[in-house]
Amino acid sequence: MQPFFGGEERTESEIKLVGVPLISVERTDWMWKAFLPEGSDRNHSVVNVFGPNAVDISGVKFPATLLFVGGFDPLQDWQKRYHEGLKKSGKEVHMVEYPNVFHGFYCLPESPEFSLLIGEVKSFVQKQSSLT
Ligand SMILES: *[C@@H]1O[C@H](CO)[C@@H](O)[C@H](O)[C@H]1NC(C)=O
Repeated sequence: MQPFFGGEERTESEIKLVGVPLISVERTDWMWKAFLPEGSDRNHSVVNVFGPNAVDISGVKFPATLLFVGGFDPLQDWQKRYHEGLKKSGKEVHMVEYPNVFHGFYCLPESPEFSLLIGEVKSFVQKQSSLT
């Protein structure tokens, strides 16, 4: 729902959003280093999925996707690129933006966006199930 992607480049949101909950460039760099095979960088196709090493998924059967982008999530630029990349690959993708939330905000059920998200997920799932 809030995809975790990255790349070698520092995006505007990664540079601008310092000191927000959960996500920092230092932490994501560490995670990518721990996750990726020795010798690869963050432009690896599983991290920078629509970057220079991207795999063409236009012929792949890919489920409809629902994305939530938070205004305080440093990963938001990567999430928006993911949205664009899926669209360009001919995939069905819906993006919902909440300006006042951070990465993982749905762990706090008392936030107003939590209820909005539940409503969005519910109608998305209902719509998808009515199509099959
Ligand atoms: C990584 O990918 C970005 C595009 O997302 C590109 O501009 C940059 O040159 C690449 N860097 C390396 C080190 O491959």
